[in-house]
Amino acid sequence: MVIFGGSGDLTRRKLVPALYNLSRKRMIPGGFTILGISRSPMKDEEYRSRLREWVDKAEEAAPSDPETWEPFSQGIYYLPANFHDAAMYARLKEVLAAYDTRRGTGGNRIFYLATAPSDYVDIIRNLGSAGMAREDSGWVRAIIEKPFGRDLASARALNREVSAVFREDQVYRIDHYLGKETVQNLLVFRFANGIFEPIWNRQYVDHVQITAAENIGVGTRGAYYEEAGALRDMIQNHMMQLLTLVAMEPPPDFAPNSVRDEKAKVLRSIRPCTPEEVGQVAVRGQYGRGFVGGREMPAYREEQGVSPNSTTETFAAIRFTIDNWRWAGVPFYVRTGKNLAKRATEIAILFRRTPHLIFRQAPTDHVESNVLALRIQPDEGITLKFEAKLPGQSMNIRPVSMDFRYGSTFGPHLSSAYERLLLDCMVGDPTLFDRIDSVELAWSLVQPFLDRWSSTDGGPIPTYASGSWGPAEADALLARENRRWRRL
Ligand code: BG6
Repeated sequence: MVIFGGSGDLTRRKLVPALYNLSRKRMIPGGFTILGISRSPMKDEEYRSRLREWVDKAEEAAPSDPETWEPFSQGIYYLPANFHDAAMYARLKEVLAAYDTRRGTGGNRIFYLATAPSDYVDIIRNLGSAGMAREDSGWVRAIIEKPFGRDLASARALNREVSAVFREDQVYRIDHYLGKETVQNLLVFRFANGIFEPIWNRQYVDHVQITAAENIGVGTRGAYYEEAGALRDMIQNHMMQLLTLVAMEPPPDFAPNSVRDEKAKVLRSIRPCTPEEVGQVAVRGQYGRGFVGGREMPAYREEQGVSPNSTTETFAAIRFTIDNWRWAGVPFYVRTGKNLAKRATEIAILFRRTPHLIFRQAPTDHVESNVLALRIQPDEGITLKFEAKLPGQSMNIRPVSMDFRYGSTFGPHLSSAYERLLLDCMVGDPTLFDRIDSVELAWSLVQPFLDRWSSTDGGPIPTYASGSWGPAEADALLARENRRWRRL
């Protein structure tokens, strides 16, 4: 695995801990070799000890132990180089050929693009010109990190560059949400159980709420985030993945293209929003000062790398409409934000109320609708909320819940999303990766919001206090339709 961006943030926080975990669980072969490439001059030994420090500090890996670290670290190498220098790729080719002999890598290569997105095109072109995308003696795959472009036009342009060098089946566009156990379980929940699918439609579902709330701000990523915003950072990718998995039709099997075809069909069924409609179906916001978990937080505009006049959204809520037989008339409300009250990612299916209420003592607005909540993280699990009779003489009704918790059922450790996805790429299974058509469809759906919010007639950006649940306008979006966001 050649990691372009070998000393970058992603490599440090996600890739190296995941690879070490895989090695420790003996899920990758002994000859597995990592070549980190970045500009800073460094010897292999220095790189190895740096990686070990990263693993020891990583959230998603236990500290290294000598018995498993030694054999893993034997396969780690470093190449100080400039990605833009075409001549470097001839040298890279030689280095990789030497590993084929020395470490038995057999011509198999994964090129991991973990650099700034502005470097992608040069790297891809250079790999192409050096003939390194060709599968002469083994397989060659490329993993591309998000963001794939910054709008529809640039995503198309990037996809054209990628397709000029790699076949589509060599390309693995990673969205780490698809690697989360709880996200994959959504498919098992829907398609390995007989009792939910019959009610998973407009006849029984009133609406769907998908929330990805974070209780952290942009931290040191201000400069990146200024260029991104919540639409690009979360909605176009992670949130659309969750939405498609909830809304898709059952595929005939779990083969890569069967699943990805159904997901693409959902994206094609989402009603595109016109620029005039943006104000009616979407709300943006930016965090001001406030307290999160008792800690005082600066306003977004005071963060490092952020312009004091920034209009970048750190919160977005959108009402999507799916025009197909299953979902006609069922709104999908999606919201995400930074510095909110709590970290909670959840998909909630809110069912229709009973058509008639026989318990006259209970005013109808006290009887809540049934809710199925799939908690993606933290406290992973599934809850079904229903009404029950309070013990006692009178017919008092109160919501109660049935709960499934991953932690108590399966134990505390779920493997990290990157472990799953890296291994899938190694074995050549692209089911949980994004396909070219879906990436472009998702961009086309968020484009009207991008256009409107970046134009001056988008109006001033509403702010919300850090530690709240977002701007009041987001509540109004649902209140207009007599609904409200779930309190998480
Ligand atoms: C990343 C975004 O893709 O996903 C971050 O760039 C965000 O801004 C993160 O914090 C959320 O991922 P997770 O796994 O913590 O929900």
